[in-house]
Amino acid sequence: MNKRYTGLIEHYRDRMPVTDGTRVISLGEGNTPLVKLENIPGETGKSVDLYVKYEGLNPTGSFKDRGMTMAVTRAVAEGSRAIICASTGNTSAAAAAYAARAGITAFVLIPEGKIALGKLAQAMIHGAVVIQIRGNFDAGMALVKEVADHAPVTIVNSINPYRLQGQKTAAFEIVDELGAAPDFHCLPVGNAGNITAHWIGYSEYAGQGTQACAFCEGSCKFGGKAVNGKRPTMVGYQASGSAPFMRGGMVDHPETVATAIRIGHPQSWDRAWTVQKESGGWFDECSDEEILAAQKLLTSREGIFCEPASATSVAGALRDIRAGRIPEGSSVVCTLTGHGLKDPDTAIRQCGDDMLTVDAELSAVKDAILNNMA
Ligand code: F0G
Repeated sequence: MNKRYTGLIEHYRDRMPVTDGTRVISLGEGNTPLVKLENIPGETGKSVDLYVKYEGLNPTGSFKDRGMTMAVTRAVAEGSRAIICASTGNTSAAAAAYAARAGITAFVLIPEGKIALGKLAQAMIHGAVVIQIRGNFDAGMALVKEVADHAPVTIVNSINPYRLQGQKTAAFEIVDELGAAPDFHCLPVGNAGNITAHWIGYSEYAGQGTQACAFCEGSCKFGGKAVNGKRPTMVGYQASGSAPFMRGGMVDHPETVATAIRIGHPQSWDRAWTVQKESGGWFDECSDEEILAAQKLLTSREGIFCEPASATSVAGALRDIRAGRIPEGSSVVCTLTGHGLKDPDTAIRQCGDDMLTVDAELSAVKDAILNNMA
């Protein structure tokens, strides 16, 4: 029978914190492509099965939609009329869209001048109340936590535990598609909510509990039965200028070209260390140059356009594959968290003056072609 896909809550309903009567706020999120890379792995000189989970193809262009459908569904069920978040851009875009869908108000706090153009456009056009602060994401997050005690607003940052319940479905989709978890799962890390959510999802499908889950009591509270016992090694990569997990403590002035992960005070600090220990994984860091090079490599060699922060997963994975830390023969999934169109400025800047301008004449266009054949 032909069944229309109507989003991840409906698709994984028996594993989600909803009841029969719950009004689901969905834009058809999830069900994103798991693309096997064909050209890049060969450049490492090692044999691996390398996949990217293209989360940029969610409705607002990032993985945040997975968490937002769940958080807004719960907020509406609990009678909330307004949601609030601090954001480096993608959470605010998702909050704005799902609030519009639900008919409630979204307040979003963003760091002035430090969010990518596409994300700002999204928050504004969906009708969110955009509050720019003269400070970074971490300052915004602290303010959101404080103001929620003084105003009737539901926080939809990933400290809202329902966010991670939505985001865990990305792991379900990967296991459903590959038949088992990969050997390694690599993600970019900011607040470390997403790496935690993936571990919750893999653990639930493996029929195991995890200390990283706010709801877990030995096994998942919302979970059905185990699907496949294997769990991956979880690997988190940070931008060097914003790498508290590598410094072993908070970073007060985070900087990176990957503005989505320009975060010095991760909200899921303890949970992420639990994930690292339980999965036997590790954290590492990538320079801005490595991040941009990986973004360019994905676009030019595989036809896949992700935003800079997302490319951090591939930058780190390629380095660890070359070095043998991820051994030959492994299956590896890298999450591409957001679409490249989110940040057109950085993409165009990467390409310098790589454009030809010619007269509107046949001879000029013909010359441009013949002089530039590969
Ligand atoms: N990649 C992208 C594109 C992001 O937008 C984020 C986080 C991350 C990775 C990191 O995920 O925080 O779960 O470790 N963006 C948040 C936001 C902070 O406000 O949009 P994390």
